[in-house]
Amino acid sequence: MIFKQIFDKNSCTYTYLIADPVSKEAVFIDPVDTYVEDYLALLKTLDLKLVYSFETHVHADHISGSGLLRQATGAQTCIGLHCGAEIADNRLVGGEAFTLGADVIINAIATPGHTPGSMSYLWADKVFTGDALFIGGCGRTDFQNGDPGDLYDAVTQKIFTLPGETLVYPGHDYKGDFVSCVYQESSKNPRLAGKTRDEFIEIMNNLNLPVPTLIDKAVPANLYCGIEEEVALQWANERELSNPDKEHRGGQGKINYAKQQVNVIDVKTAQSLIADGDPVILDVREKNEFNLGHIEHAINLPRGEIRSDIESILATRHKDAPILIYCASGHRSVLAALVMAEIGYTNVISLTGGYVKWKREIS
Ligand SMILES: [Fe+2]
Repeated sequence: MIFKQIFDKNSCTYTYLIADPVSKEAVFIDPVDTYVEDYLALLKTLDLKLVYSFETHVHADHISGSGLLRQATGAQTCIGLHCGAEIADNRLVGGEAFTLGADVIINAIATPGHTPGSMSYLWADKVFTGDALFIGGCGRTDFQNGDPGDLYDAVTQKIFTLPGETLVYPGHDYKGDFVSCVYQESSKNPRLAGKTRDEFIEIMNNLNLPVPTLIDKAVPANLYCGIEEEVALQWANERELSNPDKEHRGGQGKINYAKQQVNVIDVKTAQSLIADGDPVILDVREKNEFNLGHIEHAINLPRGEIRSDIESILATRHKDAPILIYCASGHRSVLAALVMAEIGYTNVISLTGGYVKWKREIS
């Protein structure tokens, strides 16, 4: 096996290299943009081919190197679906398995709480927990739509249930520690060991930490894997052209079908509709994406909540009234429009290219 832990002293971030010595295929977990040249040199020295960059979440304290690595090597970017990074190659919900050569298997585990899209990755006897679990601590839950109850459930049910000897490699360490194990964290972690869910929530809600200095720059950049929005959109377009069916793993076929069934509209026509037609404007992205910017007067209801909540939210509107629906790039919105059609809404129109295109054409 080839395994290396790399430390960024500016943000106290750990990046990990995992590679299969036979096939020479490699991955990075949580690469940092300022180290990309070093990573590339390391890959060259070890004669490795980078195939994936995994993110544990959209980071607030440093800019990801996964986009730059994709440009340099073609390695696919992988991140939790609920992180809102629309342009990533693989958007994960947990349960996915990635293989390097014949022997290395890396499993994605959804561990929400620090952020809704946070993922951990399990490789053999090692689990890479990102900011879900630190050595003697855990990631904060007071921004990026964090939720301490979700974090408690994820860590206690998905990490602490792994064999006790499983090695825990965190996303950060601020005290000089490198590695822990599940037994150590489940029995000694001061925030979690022996704590009830309510006690943990009480602790997390009273940390009173300062906001990370880089958050306003890092979060928007990391929604595009740390690279320029224009370049990221170009990838997305190229990928769409070469594989129009793919939204994320497991979603094949759905998007194409939906696009044939749903009325779509470009940005210019959408503007006229807003000016003349008084449509409901419905943003079906996640709350954290909506909070970073949205079309004026839009109502936010994430796609996963359409079926349960749309009728109460639009209770005063007739089901034949026009609804302009959008997401980041126009994928989720067509799927959401299909659900709305099933519920009885007859005039749902999806914005092609989504908010990304809206922003480009309006500004
Ligand atoms: Fe984080």
